[in-house]
Amino acid sequence: MMRLDKFLSEASSYSRKDVRGLVKRSAVSVNGSPAKTPDMKVDETADTVSVNGETIRYRKFIYLMLNKPQGYLSATEDDHDPVVVDLVPEDLKHFAPFPVGRLDKDTEGLLLLTNDGKFDHELMSPRKNLYKRYYAELDAPAVPEDIDSFAAGMEFKEFTAKPARLEIDPADPKKVYVEIAEGKFHQVKRMCERVGKNVLFLKRVAIGELQLDETLPCGSVRELTAEELALFGW
Ligand code: URA
Repeated sequence: MMRLDKFLSEASSYSRKDVRGLVKRSAVSVNGSPAKTPDMKVDETADTVSVNGETIRYRKFIYLMLNKPQGYLSATEDDHDPVVVDLVPEDLKHFAPFPVGRLDKDTEGLLLLTNDGKFDHELMSPRKNLYKRYYAELDAPAVPEDIDSFAAGMEFKEFTAKPARLEIDPADPKKVYVEIAEGKFHQVKRMCERVGKNVLFLKRVAIGELQLDETLPCGSVRELTAEELALFGW
């Protein structure tokens, strides 16, 4: 059980002060009856709370899928560039989501955002060994030996890239898929450079079992479904 004003200030963009005004105007109802006071107790798992007829589902955490466009930083704020949280719909901004990991400014595709620190920690943990799959377009055709170079892992100045998978599009060997378990700074680009190719376009298409929803337009955000969250054991 929790106070009605706490319920609404956590689950919606209404502040506790807003809730006082809304209750006064009989705009809030609990199980179909107008709420009398903002401090009345509601059961967040069982009661139906509505504001102006719209039901508000209680949750403290949100888990979002973004189809990231180029030009956005994987950050919550920046003085110069647009950031991915700018793309979060207004009615979800009060949850204060942040990106789980990072994609480069010029990389597109699947980026998760959440306000659940434990979820972030779990996904970023090296122990989880979560593979990320990228689609890349190169400036020169990949060759079968490149597959072996990726599979052997690679030494870089500040880290050793674990064995990675490279798949070459047989119809156009400048198009490849890369799967890496880590996500070190510019890792895919650097691994491709190591075999003599520059990445011209990069898009993340999957994190573990979770695929980028290809029906989600570039720049759009949607909540993860319960089934998608379950892919991460959440
Ligand atoms: N590897 C890169 O080089 N860039 C990204 O954005 C992600 C992985």
